[in-house]
Amino acid sequence: MTANGSADLVIVANRLPVDRVIDPDGTPRWRRSPGGLVSALEPVMRVHDGAWIGWPGGAQEEGEEDLEPFVEDGMQLVPVPLSAQEVEEFYEGFSNGTLWPLYHDVVAKPLFKREWWEAYKRVNQRFAERAAAVAARGAMVWVHDYQLQLVPQLLRELRPDLRIGFFLHIPFPPAELFSQLPWRRAVLEGLLGADIVGFHLPGGAQNFVRLVRQRVGHKTHRDLVTLPDGRQVRAAAYPISIDAADFEELARSPEVTRRAEAIRGALGHPKRVLLGVDRLDYTKGIYPRLRAYAELVADGTFDVEDTVFVQVATPSRERVDEYRKMRDEIDMLVGRVNGNLGRIGHPAISYLHSSYPREEMAALYRAADIMVVTPYRDGMNLVCKEYVACRYDNDGALVLSEFAGAAHELSQAWLVNPYDINGMKAAIVEAANAEPKEVTRRMKAMRKTVREHDVDRWATGFLDELDAVRPPGRRRVRRPAG
Ligand code: F6P
Repeated sequence: MTANGSADLVIVANRLPVDRVIDPDGTPRWRRSPGGLVSALEPVMRVHDGAWIGWPGGAQEEGEEDLEPFVEDGMQLVPVPLSAQEVEEFYEGFSNGTLWPLYHDVVAKPLFKREWWEAYKRVNQRFAERAAAVAARGAMVWVHDYQLQLVPQLLRELRPDLRIGFFLHIPFPPAELFSQLPWRRAVLEGLLGADIVGFHLPGGAQNFVRLVRQRVGHKTHRDLVTLPDGRQVRAAAYPISIDAADFEELARSPEVTRRAEAIRGALGHPKRVLLGVDRLDYTKGIYPRLRAYAELVADGTFDVEDTVFVQVATPSRERVDEYRKMRDEIDMLVGRVNGNLGRIGHPAISYLHSSYPREEMAALYRAADIMVVTPYRDGMNLVCKEYVACRYDNDGALVLSEFAGAAHELSQAWLVNPYDINGMKAAIVEAANAEPKEVTRRMKAMRKTVREHDVDRWATGFLDELDAVRPPGRRRVRRPAG
């Protein structure tokens, strides 16, 4: 395929950074979806005549015309439609019923269905074709996440002139688990189409290199894989982050400050607010966290008259069986705990099954005294970084699972094993009773990390390395000033 496209930088991600919303008068329009990734990439996209390829959400009706590419905030957006069957087999099926549980320590049982794999290959091919069509000669293409692991190789076959990067936003499992996948070799070969394969943690990169050696048989040395044609692929860690300055600014705003006070007021001005914020996902360890807290209320350590646990659970992947099952389990647990331990006007757990705008999240982070983040396994976990960014007074404690990628950077948190209920209870109590000086010491150190390693540094770091992959004759991509 020849290069007809004009984009010097192409982002390929499962979702577009916009949502389709319908105005009250029935007119459909696109609304930018909030997210660190798009804010970090926007400046560089503008300078490079960038394009973003992704699924616009929903299912394309039979016979419905494809949505045309359009320009939004200076970015060319290229929608990749999915049919209802593809949503079921590619998105809910292979992506979220096979890869998601497999890559998260098999916390739920992955399903291996051959028709899902066929849909995954088909949809990855479509993404690769769109990328091949919009990329300029020698462009950089950055492919994101587990839904699109075959795109690097498919794209390289179509456009060998491109520099291709891949970043995995979830954990990459150890060989012992990954090897369950019937299509393991094809997935590894798909990723090897990239010049750089990025992971959150060095452990993920090492798992990948080891698997490539074992299962594909290529030569490897440290973080480098050498392919039979001499091309080299580098596997390395690039821990993602948030726009910390932006969150802090939001947290300092008078609106958010007022809202945080109003939240505490609505909770009855408690002495202590514990907070959990998660997508309603079985990897997040919401159940054991609430159980640990409920036991602390039941044994009298905490009193519902002056302490409350606010749990925000954002609806997610609601048509996937495991997600439905876990929602029922959490609903039942919260109902039982509040029924048994709550008093009038004082539930033990204030449970919100909803998603909120960033302003409300910042107010919740400000209103909390202790944030409790206890995933069984999490690639990074950005919620805890957002909380840290919002605690500009250097107060607020963080209880964090050692199985979240963020624990590698935020080692001053009270680290817990989410499988150990007693250990979690002890850490929550310790955090609640810690001297303010100790809380400040820990928070200060974590804030420094989050401030210094923000999402801009992450994106720039990755793209600079990809830019340096320059076989002869390729043009260099301009960086934005500042
Ligand atoms: O963490 C992986 C991820 O795919 C994110 O990129 C995304 O924001 C989140 O999970 C929710 O995923 P979905 O697109 O399935 O709603």
